Amino acid sequence: MAASVIDGKAAAAGIRARVAAQVPGFVAAAGRRPGLAVVLVGEDPASQVYVRSKGKATREAGMESFEHRLSPEVSQDELLALVERLNSDEAVDGILVQLPLPAHVDEQAVIAAIDPDKDVDGFHVVNAGRLAVGLPALVPCTPFGCLHLLKQQCGSLSGLEAVVIGRSNIVGKPMAQLLLAENCTVTIAHSRTRDLPEVVRRADIVVAAVGRPEMVKGDWLKPGATVIDVGINRLPTDDGKGRLVGDVDFASASAVAGAITPVPGGVGPMTIAMLLRNTLVAAHGRAGLEAPEDL
Ligand code: GUN
Repeated sequence: MAASVIDGKAAAAGIRARVAAQVPGFVAAAGRRPGLAVVLVGEDPASQVYVRSKGKATREAGMESFEHRLSPEVSQDELLALVERLNSDEAVDGILVQLPLPAHVDEQAVIAAIDPDKDVDGFHVVNAGRLAVGLPALVPCTPFGCLHLLKQQCGSLSGLEAVVIGRSNIVGKPMAQLLLAENCTVTIAHSRTRDLPEVVRRADIVVAAVGRPEMVKGDWLKPGATVIDVGINRLPTDDGKGRLVGDVDFASASAVAGAITPVPGGVGPMTIAMLLRNTLVAAHGRAGLEAPEDL
């Protein structure tokens, strides 16, 4: 039986609608709109597309969007000075510095400069640490979106075997923490893992976040597994436009899995939805208001 296809677009639209519905209450209580500042350094086409859609989604949710576009030659000090200005700007609840940054900029130093209470990406060590020890934290948007899809699909995740492929700070590591907090038995696999297909085969839940087009094949999967594909890879095509594929070979995997996210239309839309949610949560925290429960 073919797997059911998990509709990330619909799930994201639901979250965005819930966030937007909470904004007027915040405005009434705080006397201002929640504000998200997005910083883009350089002209990477993919980053430009992401930043444009983040700004649009922010405005559509009734929040203020502040966009800062900097030259690829910007110095580390100039970038840090901008982050400091945003940290002390009362109108800014969330700060997102789009990654990757140019090679001459120390990414970790920039992330460390962001006020953890405004770190809507959840990349600051304070938020990573809070997540690891089970304290309330701003959680990285992509794994948070994956978790939402998994809970929507599976209900309770308690006791399930989860294999996360990829160990990045942005996806793999926080994803593993989130699954552990849901009482999954978690394995983090990566490029040095021995016999990856065999490791993946024991998983009830597979999260693929390695950036290798169509790497995970159907015969790696336990029948009925739930597969979350975080990959976004563009393969060349004859017409020059390219074709987007994930880290999972959808054709073979969907014949074995119980449920699977498509690319595009799976995890991608969830990232922006969770960014808006994090911004609203950060805004409530900064205004001394209780964050609404039903986000
Ligand atoms: N680049 C790719 N994904 C992300 C993300 O979630 N946040 C930021 N800031 N940059 C990214």
